[in-house]
Amino acid sequence: MKFTLALASTIYSASAFTPGLHVNVHRPLSSLNAVSRKDSYDVTLLPGDGIGPEITEATKAVLKTLCDKSGFEMNLKEALIGGCAIDATNDPFPQESLDQCLASDSVLLACIGGYKWDGNPRELRPESGLLKMRKEMGLFANLRPAKVLPQLIDASTLKREVVEGVDVMVVRELTGDVYFGTPKGIDEVDGQRVGYNNMIYSESEIERIARVAGDVASKRDGKLCSVDKANVLDVSQLWRDVVIEVIEKDFPDVELSHMYVDNAAMQLIRWPKQFDTIVCGNIFGDILSDEASMLVGSLGMLPSASIGESGPGVFEPCHGSAPDIAGENKANPLAMILSAAMMLRYDLDRADEAQLLEDAVEAVLDQGLRTADIKQDGDGCELVGCVEMGKAVAAQVESLELKSAVTV
Ligand code: IPM
Ligand code: MG
Repeated sequence: MKFTLALASTIYSASAFTPGLHVNVHRPLSSLNAVSRKDSYDVTLLPGDGIGPEITEATKAVLKTLCDKSGFEMNLKEALIGGCAIDATNDPFPQESLDQCLASDSVLLACIGGYKWDGNPRELRPESGLLKMRKEMGLFANLRPAKVLPQLIDASTLKREVVEGVDVMVVRELTGDVYFGTPKGIDEVDGQRVGYNNMIYSESEIERIARVAGDVASKRDGKLCSVDKANVLDVSQLWRDVVIEVIEKDFPDVELSHMYVDNAAMQLIRWPKQFDTIVCGNIFGDILSDEASMLVGSLGMLPSASIGESGPGVFEPCHGSAPDIAGENKANPLAMILSAAMMLRYDLDRADEAQLLEDAVEAVLDQGLRTADIKQDGDGCELVGCVEMGKAVAAQVESLELKSAVTV
């Protein structure tokens, strides 16, 4: 099955979130979900801004069909994050939302942001809510798979022979780096403004993401490329040293290579098939994962998983809130539906249902249905809106057989 990630049994988490507990132990990947399989789950839904509410509705309809079919319950409770939270509470991620997320079995997020809040001071911008959520929930590992589906090869701007068969996993560190480093600010120095941030990583932060990446790589093709800028940055030198130590010691079978980030950005477009698993810090991962998405054709297809060492993960599409098409029934809900599949697999111990969702997405693509972002002139496919796409996936969920997922 094409969407099944090779790390199907890769999970980090204990059975319940214990606030304040920072476990520094590497948990074996194959044994633990956020929660064990059960009949009823509590999931927090964060519809966010822009196209968020539309793709959330489409995803809800699909999940309802899935639950009815498979005979389990998912109690979906919404909470605020991003611009809508600023408007309602003057806080992009209010404490109430955080508490609700932490008390859930898992969290499914649509997208945040919009022109309306772009001019706000930093603490009142939607992005600050997202960063607060990642930090407060301890979501240090962000998995962003970019797998080219045969049905969508021509949706990529790159040549068929370059993208056909591409299957890359970007493992991005998510709670450190220049995103969170201090000191930071804009000061007045000698009569002019000076802006600064601190690119900083501690050994333990590098170790834990290196372990996730080693584990992911060992469950895929066994090739790990660590991306840094060690020819210039001290922080990158430490990154490289620690990644080597961890992989040599704990994952001797993983083939480790290193690449400077500028070269990696170029190689990813030149010959992406050379990559299997990529590990990098927060800012390099932000940039490279957007680049990797273009191999697949549309950012509208890419799911992601953000996980910590315990507690619920957050599952969200990689795309933004697309305010230019919000409310027009043009958005592509597939990345959110695929994020729900990652949630079922990684947090809820429901690999079979995850597989069914992924099969259903491929089936609608096989049927020739396309939202605008993945429609090509003359492809003979049918242009559909967000609602129709969601309904088509739900119909496939209804009719396809629920099988045992192949876990590699
Ligand atoms: C992402 C986004 C975020 C990031 C923004 C919205 C803060 O670009 O998830 O990649 O930079 O991490
Ligand atoms: Mg980004």
